[in-house]
Amino acid sequence: MSVAKKEYKRVTVKSLVEMKALGEKISMLTAYDYTMAKIVDGAGVDVILVGDSASNVMAGHETTLPITLDQMIYHASSVVRAIDRALVVVDLPFGTYQSDPKEALRSAIRIMKESGGHAVKLEGGKEIKDSIKKILNAGVPVMGHLGLTPQSIYKFGTYTVRAKEEEEALRLIEDAKLLERLGCFALVLEKIPAALAQQVAESISIPVIGIGAGGGVDGQVLVLHDMIGMTQEFHPRFLRRYMNLHEEMTTAISQYVGDVKSSEFPSENEQY
Ligand code: KIV
Repeated sequence: MSVAKKEYKRVTVKSLVEMKALGEKISMLTAYDYTMAKIVDGAGVDVILVGDSASNVMAGHETTLPITLDQMIYHASSVVRAIDRALVVVDLPFGTYQSDPKEALRSAIRIMKESGGHAVKLEGGKEIKDSIKKILNAGVPVMGHLGLTPQSIYKFGTYTVRAKEEEEALRLIEDAKLLERLGCFALVLEKIPAALAQQVAESISIPVIGIGAGGGVDGQVLVLHDMIGMTQEFHPRFLRRYMNLHEEMTTAISQYVGDVKSSEFPSENEQY
């Protein structure tokens, strides 16, 4: 059932800020290829994130660190070709924005020019503020990402809930306010206590989109392949699986194998 308060023919960064002001929750999902993006966009998702989780989901890496800028551009341009309505946000991959604001800008410009994406997402707060400023000054919209930031997994050591202690929670609130002041149009909060996420969402005017951050924020994001049950190994508490596509695909594919082996496929009607 749709509970949209206003029709958006095309979702822009401005629409998202307006949705927050109207109290309309924002839906966001990942996609990395044309066919999936077409389904996600057609189903009415507001924001498609070409996440660096492609490194895990599409390429089978253990972390998001190995994916390259060229690979992100390939995924993002496939997604952009599919969409009619959604805003497409593209992750800047690890190593393309942390060392130097000029390199960050060059990376963001390559994403915008070569993929046609509408905005970029960067992980981190104060420590990358000069990179964020530089990108924003060039007219590229930036989405922030705080809390569990998977590109820093080797610093954290685990994928457990972040900002449970007061010191880290206060730092996160400061970073969220800084990202708003710098001009980011939205912020992802990953795997932090729900009460803290709600406090952040209530203290800034830009939309806060949560993953494992409870229901008190302005929108939700999940990794598509997890929510449709294509992946199996990953089952954190925050993940709701809307279908078990792994099982359905396995059944269909083994039926096909059986039909080929038994010469049930192709039938008379399936040949020329
Ligand atoms: O890469 C990704 O999929 C993400 C989401 C988990 C927010 O950053």
